[in-house]
Amino acid sequence: MTPLITRPFQLIARTLLMSLFLIGGISNSLLAWDPPAYGQNGMVVAHDELAAEAGRKVLAAGGNAIDAAVAVGYALAVTYPPAGNIGGGGFMVIRMADGRMAAIDYREKAPARANRDMFLDDSGRVVPGLSLQGGLAVGVPGTVAGLQMALDNYGTMKLKEVINPAIDLAKRGFPVNFYLSYALHYLNQAAAKYPETVRVFGRDGNPPKPGEIFKQPDLARTLKTIRRKGPAGFYQGKVAEKLVESVQAAGGIISLEDLENYQPVLRRPVTGEYKGYQVLSMPPPSSGGIALISMLNMLKQFELDTMDWHGADYVQVLTEVERRAYADRSVWFGDADYWPVPTETLLSMAYANTRMADFVWGKATPSEMVQPLGDAAMDSLKAVLRESEETTHYSVVDKWGNAVSTTTTLNWTFGSLVTVNDCGFLLNDEMDDFSAKPGVPNAFGLVGNEANAIQPNKRMLSSMTPTIFVKNDSVRYIIGTPGGSTIITSVMQVFLNAIEERMGIVDAVRMPRVHHQWLPDVIYIEPYALGPETIAALERNGYRVVIRSTIGEVNAIGWDPIFKGWIGAPDQRGAAAAVGY
Ligand code: GLY
Repeated sequence: MTPLITRPFQLIARTLLMSLFLIGGISNSLLAWDPPAYGQNGMVVAHDELAAEAGRKVLAAGGNAIDAAVAVGYALAVTYPPAGNIGGGGFMVIRMADGRMAAIDYREKAPARANRDMFLDDSGRVVPGLSLQGGLAVGVPGTVAGLQMALDNYGTMKLKEVINPAIDLAKRGFPVNFYLSYALHYLNQAAAKYPETVRVFGRDGNPPKPGEIFKQPDLARTLKTIRRKGPAGFYQGKVAEKLVESVQAAGGIISLEDLENYQPVLRRPVTGEYKGYQVLSMPPPSSGGIALISMLNMLKQFELDTMDWHGADYVQVLTEVERRAYADRSVWFGDADYWPVPTETLLSMAYANTRMADFVWGKATPSEMVQPLGDAAMDSLKAVLRESEETTHYSVVDKWGNAVSTTTTLNWTFGSLVTVNDCGFLLNDEMDDFSAKPGVPNAFGLVGNEANAIQPNKRMLSSMTPTIFVKNDSVRYIIGTPGGSTIITSVMQVFLNAIEERMGIVDAVRMPRVHHQWLPDVIYIEPYALGPETIAALERNGYRVVIRSTIGEVNAIGWDPIFKGWIGAPDQRGAAAAVGY
C-alpha cells in the first residue's frame, strides 16, 4: 500500500468548503455566470462554435462520436487556421461504449532526408528559427490519414458525409471572430516572406476584420478532392505535388515518397488508475499520457483533498511531482518506434514512490538535484517560456457513450507560415518538437535528449494529452488542451479539481492554473492563481513564482450524475464553445 505523506489540515475551512462543493455539485457550476451547456444525447466542445456545430450536426444525423469528431477536425481546419489543420498532425484517444479503446497516432514524421544535425550551423550551434519557420520546419503531415483511420475503424459514416460541413464553411465563408481576426492581422505581418500565406490568409494586406466573412475557395477545392479520393487526394496527385513544391521552394526536404509512405498508427492508450477512475491517455510519441499517469501515481502518496486548494502545501505537492515528471520527460521520452521508452517502469507505483522519496515538506527540491545538468541545460534556465495559441483540443461524446478526445496541431501558431500553393492550407512547424541538439531547449523551453533526436521517418515528441477518464465502466470526463509544455499539467489540474475538490467540470476548467516543468525552475501561475500569502510562503520555502499569461484552453466534457447527461465545459480563456445534442 502507498504510504501517505500527511499534513495537519484545517477542519473548519475544509467543512465550509465541502458544503460549498456540495452545492457546486448540484448546480455543477457554482461560479459560472451562464448555465452550462447540457446535452442529453451527446456533447461537442471545440475551439469555436462553428466547428462544434459541425460535430453536433453529425450526431443529430445519427453519426457516432467518431463520425462527429472527424467532422469537427475538418471544420477546425477551416475555421481555426492557427491550429486546426490538414497540414499538421494530432492524437485521438477513443473509448467505445463496449469498452474497446484506441489511440490514433497521426503525429507528423521527419522526412526521409532529415538528419540529426539539420538545424545546426557549421560550428554545431542551433540556428535560431530554422526549425520554426520555412520549409525545413515542416514534418510530413498526418491529419488526413489519421482522421480516415478513425473513421474506418470506429466510425459509422463515410468521409463524404462528415467532411461536408467543412467544405461549406470554406466555400461560403463564415464571420471571423475577434480572436481570429487579430491572429490573421498578425499573420499578415509575420508571413511577409511567404507571399502565398499573405495572399490566402492576409488577403493581400486586407485580412478580415471581426465580423467580416472569410471565404477560402482554394481550401474548399482541396477538401473536395479529399472527399472524392480519400487520403489519396492529399498524399498523392495534385495536392501532394503542390505540397512538395511549396515546401521545397521554402527550403524544405519533404518528397512525394514521404507523403506516399505516411501511415498513421493505431496504438493502445496508456492506462492508469486514480481514486477509482481509469485513466486512458496518449502513449509515445506523446509524453503526455505517461507523464500524467506517473504524476497521478506520485500524488497517491498525499491527501490532496485535505489541503487548501492552491494553498502553499497544495502547490508544493503539484510542483514537486511535475518537476520530477518533466525531468524524466527530458531523458526517457521519444518515439517508441525508435527508442526504448521504459513505459512500464514509468507507470509503476514502485517508480512513483522512489521518485518522491526525497520530498520534504516546506522545502523546494532544486531542479539540479532532480537531474544533474550539463552546461547547455543550465543555459536553458535563462530561456523565456513563450506561449501561444498553438494546438487545439476537442472533445466529443454520443448518446451511446462512445467518447473521443482529440488534440491536433500545427505546433506554433500558423505552423511554419508556409501555405501550399493554390491549395489554401498551412503546413506545420512540428520539426521544432525534436531536440535540435540534445540539452538545448525548444520553443516551449523543453529540454530533450537522445531519445528525441532527429532521425529519418521518426515522430517528434509531443506533450499533447488527450485523455478520457472512466469510472464503473462508463466515461466520466473527457479532457484535453493546447498549451505546449503546459498541456500535461493543465489536464491533471482540471481532473484533480473535479475529483479532489468536487468541482463541477465547468468550474474545474475555469479555475486558475499553475505550472512547473523542471526547467526553468519556476512555478508559472496565471494571474490571481495564488494569493499573496501563498506566494510569500512558497518563496520562503525556496520556490520562485512567476505570473504569466493564461494557460491553455481546456475543452472538456463531464458526466452529470443528476440528469444523466453531459455537461460541456469550453474554456473561457479562448473562444471555445460547447454544443449539446
Ligand atoms: N506541438 C506541441 C506538442 O505536440 O506538444
